[in-house]
Amino acid sequence: MPIVYLNGDYLPLEEATVPVEDRGFLFADGIYEVVRFYRGRSFQLEAHLQRLQHSAQGAHLPLASAAAELPGIIERLLVENDLQDANVYIQYTRGAAHPRTHTFPAAAQPTVLVMPVPIHALPGDAFTRGVSAVTMPDLRWRRCDIKSTMLLPNVIAKQQARDQGAFEAILVRDGVVTEGSSTNMFAVIDGSLTTHPADQDVLGGITRQVILALAATLCLGICEETFTVDQLYDAEEVFLTSTTSEVLPITQVDGRAIGDGRPGRVTMRLFEAFQKEVAS
Ligand code: PDD
Repeated sequence: MPIVYLNGDYLPLEEATVPVEDRGFLFADGIYEVVRFYRGRSFQLEAHLQRLQHSAQGAHLPLASAAAELPGIIERLLVENDLQDANVYIQYTRGAAHPRTHTFPAAAQPTVLVMPVPIHALPGDAFTRGVSAVTMPDLRWRRCDIKSTMLLPNVIAKQQARDQGAFEAILVRDGVVTEGSSTNMFAVIDGSLTTHPADQDVLGGITRQVILALAATLCLGICEETFTVDQLYDAEEVFLTSTTSEVLPITQVDGRAIGDGRPGRVTMRLFEAFQKEVAS
């Protein structure tokens, strides 16, 4: 049974409980982060903590003092769980308050949860052969830059994709590709690495930022601009990025092959550069 951190205590997962009146439970009134650890070392922890601050500000959610203590909390959790490679999930909610009412409670203490989550290994050939995706309407709110626990549109989209045998749902708003249900989306269009700008319509992915920096060092053409579904279908290459899936080629969208139906050259160069970055 994994040990998790909840509101100051280190507990076995089964003993970590929150009141039913927690606003995370009643309103999805919370924010979160997922940080990856490779061989006992965090990857981009500082960037994740900065994004957590950004989400907290956007959600009008004061981070408890535990925010400054997060690196120490995470380190202790890895030791207690004897983990070297893990994803670490961090969640803050606005806490429990009685009676249920929409307005912010005056006295509630934020609920803070930190727990390791196992790395779901993707099928061995996912990185070498690529995965498929399907497009879907982006039904989310207009502050997708806030990493909110309010994920109903995301989980429905992901499930619908999986029900259709696809790995990811690519979300589309007004004909424009925003991002995946839990990933950022890149397309190589006319030779340029293209991805939606990091505005309020997408999550400013940490992996996205690392990939853009690596692309710059590889002198690739970079274009942080929106692209349409038709441009996606006609792209030379498509791939997704996230903390949990890293850099993953997408070789089929809505049943159509992307490029020649195999992971492209730019994708594989970035995949390799990313692996090197992680190893260093
Ligand atoms: N998902 N876009 C969305 C909507 C996401 O939920 C995520 C991350 C990303 C990629 O961000 P990053 O590179 O910082 O992980 C983009 C996490 C992993 C999750 O919800 O589990």
